[in-house]
Amino acid sequence: MTNVILIIVSAFLLLAVFSFVAEGFYMHKSYLDPWNKDYYKKYNDPRTQIIAHGILAANGHNMQNWKFKYAPDNDKNFDVYLETNRLATEVDPYYTQATISQGTMFEYMALAGNKLGYDLKITLFPDGEYSRDASKEELKQKRVAHIELEKTEKQQSPLYIEMFKPDTYRVAYKKSRLSPGDMEILQSQNNFKNIRVVYIGKGEKYDKIKNYVIKSAEIESGIERIMRESIKLFRKNEREKNRYRYGFSFEGSAITGFKMHLMQALLTVFPGMSNLAAARDAFMTQTKMAAENNAGFFLIISKGNSRHQQFNAGRLYSRIQLTAHTLGLAIQPLSQAIEEYPEMKNIYDNIHKDMTEEGETILMLFRIGEPVSEVPGSMRMDVENLIEGGF
Ligand SMILES: Cc1cc2nc3c(=O)[nH]c(=O)nc-3n(C[C@H](O)[C@H](O)[C@H](O)COP(=O)(O)O)c2cc1C
Repeated sequence: MTNVILIIVSAFLLLAVFSFVAEGFYMHKSYLDPWNKDYYKKYNDPRTQIIAHGILAANGHNMQNWKFKYAPDNDKNFDVYLETNRLATEVDPYYTQATISQGTMFEYMALAGNKLGYDLKITLFPDGEYSRDASKEELKQKRVAHIELEKTEKQQSPLYIEMFKPDTYRVAYKKSRLSPGDMEILQSQNNFKNIRVVYIGKGEKYDKIKNYVIKSAEIESGIERIMRESIKLFRKNEREKNRYRYGFSFEGSAITGFKMHLMQALLTVFPGMSNLAAARDAFMTQTKMAAENNAGFFLIISKGNSRHQQFNAGRLYSRIQLTAHTLGLAIQPLSQAIEEYPEMKNIYDNIHKDMTEEGETILMLFRIGEPVSEVPGSMRMDVENLIEGGF
């Protein structure tokens, strides 16, 4: 009898050790290297140094769909393209989130440039805007931006240091409303023409948004192709996180330390646990918690919906997010209701009817508040892998 127990215990221990080794608990987390404040110093080229900051920005589905090309004849110029190999086209069929994510990234680069002594002179969409349903060919041909670095005085911005903090907090926020002072500071970040920022902290509109957030998540979680797109992007252990360095992981749900390694070990040995039903449950639980626990919602609304405006909405989102950090606040986009696939059309139309004027588009919807806990950083690719043709 003792022998049988001994064998069972040994087998269990062996399986436990095997699963932790298989998930890679001992590995260096290179997917977090770019969050190191000195990471950019590995590079001498100021363009690479600046891009190394840009890639820390929030971006849709953590696809990091940024591609940079250096001018062969001028070491102060570079071009930005939308990377067509990393697109989440089921949720973002018209590349709206992908384009907003070019703007979030640019704002980080602009801040880094100022700190390092460069102004970033930007020409947006120098080959013309890509169309709403652009082919991959069109996306490859039309640059998002041409950027020239111009030497200037080094400037200190209180937002610089905030870039090294995680962007998206998916934990509960305290419910106390924002103070008028905080509101004013956040609103003052908007100096973009034809874009307005709206804060909704209570009342009928608040309840409506809360309902849209939950209803849209219910719709999304019932669409198999979209859930499969997300599951495909989930990196279930350290090996996968180090290998791909984009997409989602447990860090995004603020799960860290031993608990994270335990869950990763289980998923490594029993990959079937990462199935549709589990993904739907996790998504709905997080969304309901997010809808209930916040100090209000923000909308970034633009007149029209051009690529320029999408890009600028991204810039503004980054500014608001970094400024929120300086005020002890955090944010999380809740984008489902403003996504543009057919099943979401009703919700999309209704939220626009309720929240916008004729001809306006909601480009970002996010919650804000004081987070109850800190969250870890999420995966980032190495800057070297985002620059075409070497750096
Ligand atoms: C345009 C856009 C849409 C986003 N939509 C959502 C969303 O619906 N839900 C969510 O939790 N995060 C959303 N995010 C946040 C990204 O998922 C997040 O930035 C990315 O996973 C990287 O994580 P990090 O921001 O913590 O570094 C969005 C970000 C952007 C820029």
